[in-house]
Amino acid sequence: MCGIIAYIGARPCRDILIEGLKRLEYRGYDSAGLAITQTIGDCTTHVCKTVGRVADLERKLEADEPTLNGTIGLAHTRWATHGAVTDPNTHPHTDDRGLICLVHNGIIENYVSLKKLLEEKGRKFRTETDTEVLATLVSELYDPDHAKTGGMDLEAAVQAALREVTGAYAIAVMSTRDPDTLVVARKGSPLIVGIGNGEFIVASDGSAIISHTARAMTLDDYSVVRLTRDGLRTSTIDNVELSPKVMQLEIELGEIELGGFEHYMRKEIFEQPRALRRTMSGRLNHNEGCIVLGGLLAHAKELVRSRRVIICGQGTALNAGMVGEYLFEDLARIPTEVEYASELRYRNPIIEEGTVVIAVSQSGETADTLAALHEVRDRGALGLGVINVVGSTISRDTDAGVYLRVGPEIGVASTKAFTGQVMVLTMMSLFLARRRLMSGTDVSAFMAELARVPDHIEAVLEQDDEIRAITEKHIGRENWLFLGRGYNYPTAMEGALKLKEISYIHAEGMPAAEMKHGPIALIDEGMPVVFIATKGAQYDKVMSNIEEVRSRGGHIIAVATEGDEDIRRVAEDVIYIPECPEPLSPMVAVVPLQLIAYHAAVLRGHDVDKPRNLAKSVTVE
Ligand code: F6R
Repeated sequence: MCGIIAYIGARPCRDILIEGLKRLEYRGYDSAGLAITQTIGDCTTHVCKTVGRVADLERKLEADEPTLNGTIGLAHTRWATHGAVTDPNTHPHTDDRGLICLVHNGIIENYVSLKKLLEEKGRKFRTETDTEVLATLVSELYDPDHAKTGGMDLEAAVQAALREVTGAYAIAVMSTRDPDTLVVARKGSPLIVGIGNGEFIVASDGSAIISHTARAMTLDDYSVVRLTRDGLRTSTIDNVELSPKVMQLEIELGEIELGGFEHYMRKEIFEQPRALRRTMSGRLNHNEGCIVLGGLLAHAKELVRSRRVIICGQGTALNAGMVGEYLFEDLARIPTEVEYASELRYRNPIIEEGTVVIAVSQSGETADTLAALHEVRDRGALGLGVINVVGSTISRDTDAGVYLRVGPEIGVASTKAFTGQVMVLTMMSLFLARRRLMSGTDVSAFMAELARVPDHIEAVLEQDDEIRAITEKHIGRENWLFLGRGYNYPTAMEGALKLKEISYIHAEGMPAAEMKHGPIALIDEGMPVVFIATKGAQYDKVMSNIEEVRSRGGHIIAVATEGDEDIRRVAEDVIYIPECPEPLSPMVAVVPLQLIAYHAAVLRGHDVDKPRNLAKSVTVE
């Protein structure tokens, strides 16, 4: 959702900005633009923007500004919130006096009242965006002759403007009168500053920075950074100076490139065995029969004594959290609930002593999840994170946590993050189980099975051609059902979510038993119904549900355990997965469902990695 890239240094920045925008494309966007300050004729800051893809912007830039190549600039991919998807509403935004040029990610909640105040002062607006209001507010406060008059320079004007703002923002701001200063700031939306040799590259995430430098500065909420070619100054919006927090980006360039795959989603599905081995690496202590999670050690006692766990997240992260609910209750015997972060936050949650809240998020930037985490921590809960992106906002705002270590996920449809999240939640439940009730021998036996999960996934991936053929048979169908029970009810939810988000086919996921309570009315001749029918406690019940669908003409696609011949009697198509303990089966059973969704989207000719309307990281509530 919205991507920002900005540069100040000695190098011409046109290609740097374009390359950065391309790296940020995966976040989801509908229009793109850039501005570069360079004196050509009378004009200093040149803005070029367009609805469409970064490639469209590149073409427009080539046609309109072929010689533009200054050494300070900013660029943006917009995912519309305020105002339609039009060229004028695309960022960067300038003000009516042509002093300020600004890009923004987030929402300025009080923009209507600010706009009214500015209009009363005679300021004019040309767009429907909240961002133009912010640019105009900075311009109203900024004095381009500040050196002579003692008025506000760019940094002071940005600080003063942000003191008036409510909402969320990550911004990069330039003055058209000062080609030597770039000011950036954030609250609630992601932004980091890459520190190069005599240059700074600012971006929404590390993927747009890593080809230039691995040193990056993270920004806390309400911080403002002034960047010049000589250095940087960090302060709060109240101008209290802060010391920069510098970290190393843990991204390898190869991880954010396609590496011979046609799509990132496919690459990431196939990466899962390797990614999960990395998630487990160094964390399974087979000799002592325990799980080693360094991030939780400082809170181990509190965790063992915890009385209730609430897992929250959105979308795929929530589905992984649902598997976590089964794991924590089953293995660690702690009462556990799972809840949409967006609902948890606003329903006046009861947080008693001993409540642990686990925020699950790939990006670590999801606004709903972040807000829920703040809410429950304010009420006294211990807040843990299950996060992929190192140094992300949620990872910094938790008391402790465990990283997924699955590498950057670029495909908008989450795949390896789901299996990584379930793997981490499994390890967390074993970490607690060992301290509460499970013997070292039992944990060891379980860990041995856990270590085999990547091999099981490899066996599923080998069936890719068969899964494609099964998908192709049903490609004309507009409605699918995904059904499972127990541990694989969340798997069914995830299968349906994957299918709808990238193939735009309507799909519902639910507990298999629930189907009888209404949705069964949907089943007609040939409707594809995917059952996760692996061997486990409720296998017989699932078989009965399959019969119910079959007798109404539904076409059964079963994900079943290797060696189960009975299933062939009732299912038209069977995808086998290797036998594994039921609590581990979601990590394996979800893989064929990811592949069904992938093939369905490709067969329907959709842009798998950039599905319509979706953003990778949803940074607004
Ligand atoms: C689905 C998907 C989304 C995300 C959700 C939460 O494929 O990607 O449903 O899972 O937006 O995102 P994170 O995990 O970044 O908090």
